[in-house]
Amino acid sequence: MKIRLYQPGDVDELKRITIEGFEGIAIDQNVERSLGIVGAHDWRWRKARHVDEDIAANPDGVFVAEEAGRVLGYISTRLDRESHKGRIPNLAVDKTARGRGIGRQLIEHALDYFRRERMAFAMIETMVNNPVGQHLYPSCGFVEAGRQIHYATKL
Ligand SMILES: CC(C)(COP(=O)(O)OP(=O)(O)OC[C@H]1O[C@@H](n2cnc3c(N)ncnc32)[C@H](O)[C@@H]1OP(=O)(O)O)[C@@H](O)C(=O)NCCC(=O)NCCS
Repeated sequence: MKIRLYQPGDVDELKRITIEGFEGIAIDQNVERSLGIVGAHDWRWRKARHVDEDIAANPDGVFVAEEAGRVLGYISTRLDRESHKGRIPNLAVDKTARGRGIGRQLIEHALDYFRRERMAFAMIETMVNNPVGQHLYPSCGFVEAGRQIHYATKL
């Protein structure tokens, strides 16, 4: 397994891994559960669009785990060069490749990237109904900094 910079040809696979991976833990899916299908698209479309947004925002900071030519997962990053804060908006590993340490290696890769880019600290978030995030992130050195409640209303 190697970790490399994303290439445009990865995008469809990154979106598939995102949609499959975030089933049951995506905020947009919770919104849909609470309000029904709202807006022009469903939660899957909105979640997959994060891949486009992450690439547009920081194309040099989207890293892909690849093995034998197959994309196994990815991590996206943002750099705030004024505050020296690195952020990890999205991380997902294909279901068939989980539990092998790939998620952890992607996080370490992102943290090394932040250090190279002279960031001073990094942030990542997870939903309360995501036990893997709550185990993995503290074990990568993150400490809890707060909890947020998301509200939605139909217009
Ligand atoms: C989060 C995710 C990227 C982790 O990928 P991964 O390659 O399986 O991660 P790793 O193998 O490096 O580590 C997973 C850790 O979680 C632990 N874990 C797995 N299932 C768990 C559970 N139900 N509860 C608590 N910990 C769990 C593993 O034991 C491992 O910890 P360890 O290294 O201390 O043994 C992957 O589960 C995923 O894509 N999930 C869906 C999308 C998602 O949740 N993304 C993050 C959003 S915040």
